[in-house]
Formats: sequence, C-alpha cells, structure tokens
Amino acid sequence: MQIADISFPDHPLFLAPMEDVTDPAFRLMCKRFGADMVYTEFISADALVRNVKRTEQKLTIYEEERPVVMQIYGREPDAVAEAARIAEQANPDIIDLNFGCPVKKVAGKGAGAGLLRDIPKMLEITRAVVRAVKKPVTVKTRLGWDEDSKIIVTLAEQLQDCGIRALAIHGRTRCQMYKGEADWTLIGEVKNNPRMHIPIIGNGDVTTPERARECFDRYGVDAVMVGRAAIGHPWIFQEMKHFLATGERMPAYRFAWQIDLLKEHVLRSMEWLGDERKGIVHSRRHLAATPVFKGIPHFRETRIAMLRAEKLDELFAIIDDVKLRYSQLMQEGGLS
Ligand SMILES: Cc1cc2nc3c(=O)[nH]c(=O)nc-3n(C[C@H](O)[C@H](O)[C@H](O)COP(=O)(O)O)c2cc1C
Repeated sequence: MQIADISFPDHPLFLAPMEDVTDPAFRLMCKRFGADMVYTEFISADALVRNVKRTEQKLTIYEEERPVVMQIYGREPDAVAEAARIAEQANPDIIDLNFGCPVKKVAGKGAGAGLLRDIPKMLEITRAVVRAVKKPVTVKTRLGWDEDSKIIVTLAEQLQDCGIRALAIHGRTRCQMYKGEADWTLIGEVKNNPRMHIPIIGNGDVTTPERARECFDRYGVDAVMVGRAAIGHPWIFQEMKHFLATGERMPAYRFAWQIDLLKEHVLRSMEWLGDERKGIVHSRRHLAATPVFKGIPHFRETRIAMLRAEKLDELFAIIDDVKLRYSQLMQEGGLS
C-alpha cells in the first residue's frame, strides 16, 4: 500500500490523531511498538495563522516518528490553506484535514464535522489546501452528519476528485459523537466502490488484534487506524502486528514490564512538556485508561491516589507499590 510516494508494509496500522494525547512523546512510543504512521493532534488553522505560541509547539516532529501526519482544522478556505502552508514548513510527511471532530467548540463553529453540513465548503477547503502545498494532502472524516445523512460514499468520490491522496473514515456520524458502535459497512462500501482509487483507512472501535484482522479481511480497507485502544497501551500495535502476521496472539508482556512502560511514558511526557507537574497531569489520561491495572482487587482507592498525585516521587511510589504487591499475582494469571 502506498500513500503518494510513502510505502507501507502489509496491513498497516496507524495511530489516530487525538487532542492532548498524540504529542511527540506518545507518538514515538507507538512508533516504537510498530505503528506504521502516526498523526499529530489536530491543530487550529486560525491559531496557526495568528501564530499562537502553544500551537507552535504542536508543529514539533521528530525524524524517528516518520512518516508523520500533521492534522489541521478550520472553516475558511483561505485560512486553512495559509495554515497548511505554515504546517508544511514543519516538514510533516502528509497534511491531513480534519472534517470529523464532533465537539461543539469545533463542529458548532462550522469546522471539523461541522463541514459535513456544508459539503461545497468542505470541498472548497480541500481544493484550496491541495493547491497550496506540495506535500500530499489527506482527509479524515465521519460517515455523515446524522443517521439521515450518511453521505460518505458520494463524499469520498468528491474528496478524491479534489486531489487528496488517502481518506480516513471514522464509522460514526457527527451526531453519534463517540456513542454506539462504529459502523464499518459504509467504510467497506467506500472501499469497494470501483470509482475509488485512493487508499481507504478505516477507523472506529478497533480494540483487539482479532478485530483489526477482521477489519482488513471483511471490509478490505488499506489501513486500520487505532485511537483510544492505544491510550495507556502503546504496545497494542505490536500485539496487533504479531496477530496479523501469525494468526496468534503474542504472549502478554509481564505485568512489571507494563508498569515500567507506563512510568517511562510519564517521564517522557515530563521531558516533552519541560515541567514535572504538567507532565504528570498530562499522563493521567493514560494511567486512567490503561488496561494494565485491570483485575487488581480493590484498586479504586489506589487509582484515585494515583490520579491525584502531583509529584513524581509520590506517583512512582504508588505505582511501584502496585508493582511490588501484584506482580506475582498478575503474572500467575491469578487475576482475570
Ligand atoms: C481524546 C480524543 C481526542 C481526539 N482528537 C482528535 C483529533 O484531534 N483529530 C481527529 O481527527 N480525531 C480525533 N479524535 C477521534 C479519533 O481520532 C478517532 O477517530 C476516534 O477515537 C475513533 O477511533 P477509536 O475507536 O479507535 O478510538 C479524538 C478522539 C479522542 C478519544
């Protein structure tokens, strides 16, 4: 599979763009465990054009994480095209347009998934960006605005005609937000549309190696994009890759190893943000979502303490205590 002149191995797995999650520290970890391409969190076109300081930081990418996609969002063709030019200077491998973000502060203002209610404008933005930059341009969107407007099959053709080089589809409508189950049948329909020739990246609720396999086999997508299941679990890419290659699950990493990896992520977040407290606060989402602590009896109090800690030694003392007390039990399969 290829996107523009970037080649991928069989069954490519991509790390989905996630605001406040897919910073360089996390992207590099996912990359280390086999993610074939990683996305930055979305970057506001308006903020880029206005040169907002915090937004500049989002333009940082590292050689080791390539290929890396920089995602931008906005609602006015000229501003988004200008933002794409600025993003291009940061030298990502691909520039992606977000037409899928459902949250009010974005979609409500006519950007992200809001553009699913104004297709002519979406297409205008896409054409403007394709014209503005030399880098390949891709799009990530949803099935449609609501249950009665699942327009993705036609929309995919229209976006392709604008010159995008790949299309990522999250199998939900805007109105579904993150509720219900992702519907992959329409993603499969887009992929099987004989008029489509650009790669189709399927996204939504891929949480296990078996589901990843099923998405490739049943819907024929060119790549699978994994989002939430990677939070607090960046080695999921390795688990999926192993299964896709062998048809078998790889042996689980030892509990102590998983704990150490979570600790490493905290340290890397701190390093990235250049501040102990900020790094810890930023890591909380991963510590809260990780499957590592699943099955530990009476974990609630410890969990609360872990997610409240503001100092590194305090946080690591809690985590190390869990490691010490439960390593043997977790390893022996004494907990389910
Ligand atoms: C915390 C969070 C932040 C997200 N931020 C973005 C974003 O910046 N850009 C984007 O296109 N999608 C964003 N998404 C949507 C994901 O990329 C993905 O489409 C969605 O989570 C479904 O995939 P999953 O079931 O594998 O998580 C975000 C999702 C979450 C949970």
